[in-house]
Amino acid sequence: MPSDAPLADAVDAFLADSGTTFTVPGHKRAPGVADPLLMLDLPLVSGADDSRLSGDVLGRAERLAARLWGADLCRFSVAGSTHGNQSLALAAARPGERVAVARTLHKSMFGGLVLAGLEPVWVRPAVDPQTGLATQVPAAAVAAALRDHPDLRALFLVEPSYVGMLSDLEAIAAAVHEAAVPLIVDQAWGAHLGFHPGLPAHAIARGADAMVTSTHKTLTAFTQGSVVLARGGLLDLARVEESFELLHTTSPSAAILASTDRARQLVEDRGEQLLEQAIALVADARTRLRRIDGLHVSEASDPVKLVLGLAGTGADGFQVEADLLADGLRLEMADRDTLVPIVTLADTPATVARLVEALERSIALRRGAARPLAASSVWSLQPVAAISPREAFFAPRERVPAGRAVGRVAAETAAPYPPGIPALAPGELITEEILVALQREAAAGTRVAYCSDPTLETLLVVADRPV
Ligand SMILES: Cc1ncc(COP(=O)(O)O)c(C=O)c1O
Repeated sequence: MPSDAPLADAVDAFLADSGTTFTVPGHKRAPGVADPLLMLDLPLVSGADDSRLSGDVLGRAERLAARLWGADLCRFSVAGSTHGNQSLALAAARPGERVAVARTLHKSMFGGLVLAGLEPVWVRPAVDPQTGLATQVPAAAVAAALRDHPDLRALFLVEPSYVGMLSDLEAIAAAVHEAAVPLIVDQAWGAHLGFHPGLPAHAIARGADAMVTSTHKTLTAFTQGSVVLARGGLLDLARVEESFELLHTTSPSAAILASTDRARQLVEDRGEQLLEQAIALVADARTRLRRIDGLHVSEASDPVKLVLGLAGTGADGFQVEADLLADGLRLEMADRDTLVPIVTLADTPATVARLVEALERSIALRRGAARPLAASSVWSLQPVAAISPREAFFAPRERVPAGRAVGRVAAETAAPYPPGIPALAPGELITEEILVALQREAAAGTRVAYCSDPTLETLLVVADRPV
């Protein structure tokens, strides 16, 4: 017997017989007017539910998801984990208050700091010198932040990192809870975690007070589908709801919401079996790919994550990506040194075999002299906060040549990849040391992401006076 999926069933029933609608969306799925791609588009209000939401179909679906993840509250979003991160920033503290934040934060969380006016205290992950990739946030770094800042209101972590690494969340949760500080986890990349004995548990099970996860990333929801999960105690759940609603559309697509309901149902009914296959496929792919001379296959904490380092093969990641594309294979991420193909529970032995074979062919074709790994150390220079992210966001700004940037306050981020940790963030002082180091890295071919001029010949800074 399949488990219930009240919202998805309501959507199916509506689409099977929607009658004649006098509601939005204006296309009304009308033949001759609506493009075929609109045939699944329907609203929640006066669509999947009635005009007063009296069927509570969304609420019932959210409660099933809360039960699955072991949370007191679950909300389905149509605006990705971006929305969830920003909601939790608003819910966790008030303007001017301090929160500890992993420096691996996604830009949506930086947006959360701006919206809520929070003052970040940065916690740095460790970086693997062999791969240049960020590994985990040491519990000791969290303990130090708590010791140095007794006024912290929350800790925000990204778990797993983009490259699949996880921290010791139990130890971190114990440390923050001792200080009555909630642990809030951006688990955008870990919607599948906890649903197979071979996978690490998800953040709520490991002690987090809240977590955000993209059901569209590693599960099977429509793009934009995401959930916010929270537990009461250190977080005010009414405040989490209020913040969530503040930033959510009043016209959510019931199709996106229902796809999260179906994803939850799939995990509940067949997750373990499907994840068994995904774990085995990635383990097998890792074994085969390790036979490619010079290719680094990372030991991610997430057994379903594949991260490939090309520097030792001499092949250029952009060329490999182009070869794969010519073979009809698209990658989630490729830069010169790193490839990230996403494998999920939707993959099959045939899809993963195609990927591995195409990589073997392309790397053989593009092989060259091994490059020293471009593991930047720039990010480890200590940032100096001059103004808050919120002040930097609203400040007038101007572009200046690098030669005139030292001593000014950055209005943009600069993050060398790998490890993708900002060396400079809006509101921070541009020191000679940081600028010279960033320029040296850019000249050596390291990608410096998120800044408007990646050559770093010019920088966007906060204007000295209104412009
Ligand atoms: C760590 C992290 N958090 C949050 C997000 C935002 O998720 P979404 O694209 O679902 O809004 C991303 C997106 O890639 C991410 O990598």
